[in-house]
Amino acid sequence: MKCDLILALDVPDEAEGMKLLQRLGHDVRWVKIGLQLFTRHGPGLVERVAALGYRIFLDLKLHDIPNTVASAVTSLASLPIDLLTIHTCGGSEMMRAAQKARDTHRPSLTLLGVTVLTSMDTATLNEVGVPGEPADQVLRLGHLARISGVGGLVCSPMELPVLRRELGSSITLVTPGVRPSGAPADDQKRALTPAEAARAGANYIVVGRPILKAADPAAAARAVIAELASA
Ligand code: C5P
Repeated sequence: MKCDLILALDVPDEAEGMKLLQRLGHDVRWVKIGLQLFTRHGPGLVERVAALGYRIFLDLKLHDIPNTVASAVTSLASLPIDLLTIHTCGGSEMMRAAQKARDTHRPSLTLLGVTVLTSMDTATLNEVGVPGEPADQVLRLGHLARISGVGGLVCSPMELPVLRRELGSSITLVTPGVRPSGAPADDQKRALTPAEAARAGANYIVVGRPILKAADPAAAARAVIAELASA
């Protein structure tokens, strides 16, 4: 299965992001724009990064009543984005409404369901009224996303094998928590290497700091891409 690198553009503002992208060259094809940059610079930033030739993963993790999420997807559908996150815990009706808006307004867009945030453990999950273990909830919400027609999921590297096995080969699996061999773990607790993630069934890996903070970001990105190609 082919696995592509997505660069997480986790920088405080557009000027820094653009400086970084200039240093990167064009080996990286995908950029993830998250809440930090989107809430600061808005949709215009997405257009400006896409105009440089990048494909865009917009990580906004939408979660609201079905009509509102569908309306947000409709608004975002005018942007040049290829991947967009929604929260699966909004339920099947919300996911179906989002998917319907995508079908109508931007069929090339893949919606990615977020299951359980990896910042949540058993205690924090129980605290919000969900009994059991995060792994069970991930699988439950993964199945719910699948039957609601959502095209993909964001998951931790450890969840890749079971989600791939349970949900089949056609679902798009995107995983952060990837660290090239030798790179600092930062706060990623159980990271896989790019090659391991690719072999475990990821379609895309999201990598931020190992590239953003490298002395030579272009070389760091090329090393990740080479590792993916060899997997
Ligand atoms: O810098 P690093 O490679 O850890 O960045 C990973 C990206 O993936 C960040 O944008 C982070 O917010 C995101 N992410 C994550 N772990 C999750 C979900 C998202 O690291 N469980």
